[in-house]
Order: sequence, then C-alpha cells, then structure tokens
Amino acid sequence: MRFTIAIDGPAAAGKGTISKAVAAHYGFAHLDTGLLYRAVGARTLDGTDPIAAAKGLTAEDLEADNLRTPEVAQAASKVAVIGEVRAALVDFQRAFARRAGGAVLDGRDIGTVICPNAEAKLFVTASAEVRAERRYLELVGKGTEIDRGTVLADVKERDARDMERAEAPLKPAADAVLIDTSDLAIADAIAAAVAAIDAVRPTE
Ligand code: DC
Repeated sequence: MRFTIAIDGPAAAGKGTISKAVAAHYGFAHLDTGLLYRAVGARTLDGTDPIAAAKGLTAEDLEADNLRTPEVAQAASKVAVIGEVRAALVDFQRAFARRAGGAVLDGRDIGTVICPNAEAKLFVTASAEVRAERRYLELVGKGTEIDRGTVLADVKERDARDMERAEAPLKPAADAVLIDTSDLAIADAIAAAVAAIDAVRPTE
C-alpha cells in the first residue's frame, strides 16, 4: 500500500507533533524534512558550502546534536532559499514518500512541490504569537537562555524568508485541508488531522 500524507506549515505550528501522532496512528513512516535543511544549515556554520553539504548529506549529519538550536534553524531557512540545495534533496524525499506501507512527510513544500499528488494534504498553522510562545517554552524547557521578544522576531523573520523565497515558497496547496492550532489542544489538533485523512483514505 502506498499512501502519502503531506503536512506543511510554518515553524512551531504543531506540524511535528501532529505528524508523529498521525504516523503512529496509521503505522506509517515519518520524515521531518526540516531536519534535512537543518543538517545542511548546520554544516554551513563550520564553513562548508551549502550546495556541497546538500549533495553529500549523510545519515551522520542528520544526527548532529545541535540541529534544534535557533542558530541552526536560521541557517536552515537561509540555505533553503538556494535552488540547488532544494534540488539535491528532492529524490530522497520523493523516494521516502512512495515507500511501501505509507509515509508522512512534514515541511514547507511537500504538498506543493515534493508530493503534489499526495493522497492527503494538510496545512497546519497558528498565529505568530502563539507559535513564538510555544517555541519560547520549548527552548526555556531545554535550558536555553532567551527572551520572548527574540523568539517572536526569529519566528517572523523565518516566516518571511520561507514565504517570500522564489523556490518552493511556504504556502498551502490548493487542495490542502487547513488546521489552525492557535486555539486547539494537541489532542484536538491530532483528531482534526486524523478526521481529514480518514475522509480521503480508502477503507479496507
Ligand atoms: O520545519 P523546521 O523548522 O525544522 O525547518 C527549518 C527550515 O528549513 C525552515 O525555516 C525552512 C526550511 N525547510 C524548507 O524550506 N522546506 C521544507 N520542506 C522543510 C524545511
């Protein structure tokens, strides 16, 4: 059985949480595509050329322990505007999407560019303020010293870069189901996602 679920949306909207839960619910494999861009971004912090880093990305790069830091998030968003970087990552994502047994991919351009024929597409969003507050609590929880204003500015800067770039900008696919998690508890957001997917999933 091949079934691709594309989940896109801006930073800290809840895509990751929803994607993991949906993958577990259906028993599908999950790929957080942001991790690919973060791994490329992390390599550039030590001077590596981004295109070379994307072409030579290794499993080890995906396991670096700094991938969730704000510096790497910004670096990821910067390398993500480069067409050759995006092109180098396409085949891996498409092969993952069509693996037997079903796949969930989350990112910015999954429903629009990577898997335009995905069987189910969701666009998960929330206000910038709500997303910044979630990211702030997550960072503080991990012991990072940071203030709310910096996190909100970071979120807005990354949104602008991700939405305004020429290559595969962040936007909902025309046929994506929108889920705004600003006022939703996690369990309700997951339930909304599962309901949207069940609506297009053939019953066995
Ligand atoms: O989802 P994330 O915050 O881990 O993504 C980090 C950056 O990577 C994001 O700001 C833009 C880029 N990205 C992208 O351009 N396309 C994707 N499919 C996933 C992430």
